[in-house]
Amino acid sequence: MKKEFKRTLVTTALPYANGPVHIGHLAGVYVPADIYTRFLRLNGEEVMMIGGSDEHGVPITIKAKREGVTPQDIVDRYHTIIKDSMAGLGISFDVYSRTTSDTHHAMASEFFRTLYDKGEFVERSSMQLYDEKAGQFLADRYVTGECPHCHNPRAYGDQCESCGTSLAPTDLINPRSALTDTVPVMKETFHWYLPLDKWEDYLRRWILDGHKEWRSNVYGQCKSWLDMGLQPRAVSRDLDWGVPVPVEGAEGKVLYVWFDAPIGYISNTKELCPDSWEKWWKDPETRIINFIGKDNIVFHCIVFPAMLSAYGDGYQLPDNVPANEFLNLEGDKISTSRNWAVWLHEYLEDFPGKQDVLRYVLTANAPETKDNDFTWADFQARNNNELVAILGNFVNRALVLTQKYFGGEVPACGELMPVDAGVFDEIRSLKESISSNIRDFHFRDALKEAMNMARVGNRYLQETEPWKLAKTDMARTATILNVALQITANLAVAFEPFLPFMSGKLCGILHLDSVDWDMLGCDSLLAAGVKLGEPELLFEKIDDAAVQAQIDKLNRAKEANALAAWKPEPQSADVDIDTFGRCDIRVGTVLECKRVPKADKLLQFLIDDGTGSPRTIVSGIAKYYDPEQLTGRQICYIANLPPRKLRGVESCGMILSAVSSDGSLVVIGPTGPVAPGSKVG
Ligand code: MF3
Ligand code: ZN
Repeated sequence: MKKEFKRTLVTTALPYANGPVHIGHLAGVYVPADIYTRFLRLNGEEVMMIGGSDEHGVPITIKAKREGVTPQDIVDRYHTIIKDSMAGLGISFDVYSRTTSDTHHAMASEFFRTLYDKGEFVERSSMQLYDEKAGQFLADRYVTGECPHCHNPRAYGDQCESCGTSLAPTDLINPRSALTDTVPVMKETFHWYLPLDKWEDYLRRWILDGHKEWRSNVYGQCKSWLDMGLQPRAVSRDLDWGVPVPVEGAEGKVLYVWFDAPIGYISNTKELCPDSWEKWWKDPETRIINFIGKDNIVFHCIVFPAMLSAYGDGYQLPDNVPANEFLNLEGDKISTSRNWAVWLHEYLEDFPGKQDVLRYVLTANAPETKDNDFTWADFQARNNNELVAILGNFVNRALVLTQKYFGGEVPACGELMPVDAGVFDEIRSLKESISSNIRDFHFRDALKEAMNMARVGNRYLQETEPWKLAKTDMARTATILNVALQITANLAVAFEPFLPFMSGKLCGILHLDSVDWDMLGCDSLLAAGVKLGEPELLFEKIDDAAVQAQIDKLNRAKEANALAAWKPEPQSADVDIDTFGRCDIRVGTVLECKRVPKADKLLQFLIDDGTGSPRTIVSGIAKYYDPEQLTGRQICYIANLPPRKLRGVESCGMILSAVSSDGSLVVIGPTGPVAPGSKVG
């Protein structure tokens, strides 16, 4: 039996304020949450959407250290970027606050203290890696060393990204602190732990018996955690950035970021509604929905519910946690540190006025049941073939025909024929399907059905051909265009949750002052005689150049990464000086340089080696140099290699070059003029 609720509280995972938000965050959390919330608002339901920045945690402190600024500077910078860019995309938070706010610190602190006083924690000591130079305990991620399994020299203390094995920092061979590159030592510390094992049976019943309707990825992850058996989890850290642990003797300790962040949902609600926040959290008639990405499932379905249950006092658990899978970008995992992302604030700058295009593509391709891939080619295709060709095209035809035949006034509607009435039957049935899909968190399917509504419009005009009838039957033409305009008004309603900018623009043209979901399916949303605004194109084609510019941007990021990740090859085994001395390296002057016919890698050199009879050397560097670039230059070559035939040319020696980080070759020569034939050594 479905439970009846009075109101809905929508929470959205609080993004870390250590970077801007990207399309992965949007597709996973904010766009679906916004569609859901807008839909409920359109239905006149009591609903609130809570957001905010997650401003604690180790990565923020590390970033601050690297930049030589304070953690507060970092979170101020990104909180502003995130908040503004989300508003720019029309994500309609009722509140977007931050976990450094006073309200939050007070509430998180009180929450901990209450659990502490109730005896809900256990205190334990443990040995942890400590960086003596930084004077700081090391989070697992900030210890690096050699993987004991695959011997990757750059494994992290929590995982080896080369072979995928989960690790503890103490498993690493030759561990080093990522902060100072010194060798960490073991040091004793103590922390408070939430004994999740105590809540295991309770959570098992609540999720595995009580919420079989949850998405299978969410249910499955919970089941596997529960089946493995829950362990106590530390809820404090040795760190100087966060909410101080409000207990005597806890100097230098703060709440673990995953303890305080979800409390941020509550404190942000309180910030918005200081007097009525409790009904949103403690009334069983409130439906709480947590929108998150799949990496957050355990915290929202296991840890936070255990915290809330331990606190008691009527706190309600979420009714659903529609977690999404991940969105990849051009076939690669999105990564903030590798700058492999489409950043929202940059998108808004690069594509002004195209917020709905991004919202559309991210919803149409949402990773609801499996990881999905965002590609710029798909972005362009969906814009050009769907938004422009289907939705924009229909609306434009309805408006332009009205302009042409009725001077832009809504024509009077005569008696409806079956073909006209059928249109509204279809709209009503699509409405039901959109509604139930949204309520079931199937946003892709919901959007498909909304698009089908635009297809109904196109088909209607195709079938009725008002441009032909206008020559003979103006009354019937009026009815048809009236119907087409009513469909247009219906589209403005149906698309509001998905494409609010387009919907707003259309409402402006149609003079629809306010929309609600009840209007959908109605054949008389627009009164005859109303003068419409100027027809405007709702969407425009995106050309190849715009898309190519984005792909180029990504490729530049990839190159910069390759450069940053480059390390010199390990040094070769020792050679003795005599062995080295047998290698005769000389300086020569390039007299002539030309391509070797039919060998795209080879250049042929004529080198003045001081002997009076120039020598020929063939070298595989044609991909990196034009022959003119090297003519006249001095280079180094090995003189005493046995001659070798390359493509029929005898090569006497080898030109020396350095292998650059991107694999390209750079020829080596003296830094000042030297007599040809001079020895190098
Ligand atoms: N900052 C976390 C992340 O980006 C999400 C925090 S969600 C909250 O993965 F519930 F803790 F707020
Ligand atoms: Zn490994």
